[in-house]
Amino acid sequence: MRMPLFRRMKRRGVLFSVLLLSSLLLVACGENSPSILNPSGPVAAKEAGLFWFILVVATIIFVVVESVLIYSIVRFRERPNAAAPRQIHGNNTVELIWTIAPSLFLFAVLIGTIYTMFNLRDVSGTGRPVQVTVIGHQWWWEFDYVNEGIVTADELHIPVDTVINASLQSTNVIHSFWVPQLFGKTDVVPGHNNTTVFLADNTGTYRGLCTEFCGLQHAHMDFNVIVQSQDDYNAWVTAQQQAAAAKPTDPNALAGQNLFLTSGGCQGCHGIVGVNLKSYNDPKANLLIGPNLTHFGSRTWIAGGVLMWDPASCVVVAGPDGKPKIQNQDACGLYQWLHDPQGVKPGSDMVIRPLSDTEIAQLIAYLETLT
Ligand code: CUA
Repeated sequence: MRMPLFRRMKRRGVLFSVLLLSSLLLVACGENSPSILNPSGPVAAKEAGLFWFILVVATIIFVVVESVLIYSIVRFRERPNAAAPRQIHGNNTVELIWTIAPSLFLFAVLIGTIYTMFNLRDVSGTGRPVQVTVIGHQWWWEFDYVNEGIVTADELHIPVDTVINASLQSTNVIHSFWVPQLFGKTDVVPGHNNTTVFLADNTGTYRGLCTEFCGLQHAHMDFNVIVQSQDDYNAWVTAQQQAAAAKPTDPNALAGQNLFLTSGGCQGCHGIVGVNLKSYNDPKANLLIGPNLTHFGSRTWIAGGVLMWDPASCVVVAGPDGKPKIQNQDACGLYQWLHDPQGVKPGSDMVIRPLSDTEIAQLIAYLETLT
């Protein structure tokens, strides 16, 4: 009776262990999942170095402890008619060894951690450092370039090999700012401005995320860090500094701008420099709770990465009634966003009146011009 029960438990134990192990292995597998073990800047590299150091120390301890344990289990297992083993309670030598050895290992980890912590901000690049104010909103990131006088959302453009000094602010709840391949997590706390310093070694796009639970859409608070050559970055800054055209030429875009300014109600939350804002620093901008849209057309993400913006999949055509419509509504992320923002991102501040398909097509025709 006892053996089958024991065997069933053993089989369940094996099954449970396999599931647990495979879930641990698969937990980091996701499309475009950025890894701290694939650093692309000195700050992330130092943090990855500390990780490997602690892993080596922990592995040595694990192997030694498990070896002694397994040896003891086998060597001193119970045998028929065996005498009681020799008792070692109160053995000073053994007690000293297992007190001093872990202390040494933990001391090494402590030294490694403190050394890394104090060296983390010691980075130097070639270009002039860029000063950015990062503002965590519910649920998207705003990036204010202090010296360039521009404001973006969802996308942080930075020059390669240049020190970035980021001041982290929140006007609402606690968020946490993290780009796994560039730097570790720093909390973004209302009323307490944290800072972080980092530098990117290579050009490319790096995914960032919010890593402190901040409400319903915490998981939809991603952003991209786009690392460019100094020349490309300068060109991007110059383009961002331009105001939007006061009057678009395309009739659909013009109708979209009218909607933005009047019955669409967009300008109550969003600013466009040259249209409803005089500049990025217009005091009126402080009253607007939505992202600045001056160059929305040049971005790729909508609402913290919940949808993609791609003009190629949002073609405006004339419908059967002669009014503009989006050719393939299902393929157009911006259509879905404007059609039902609360369905796409429940709880977000994007609370709008229902827009007709014609109005959405006109707004998209307008936003497309804001490159
Ligand atoms: Cu912001 Cu989580």
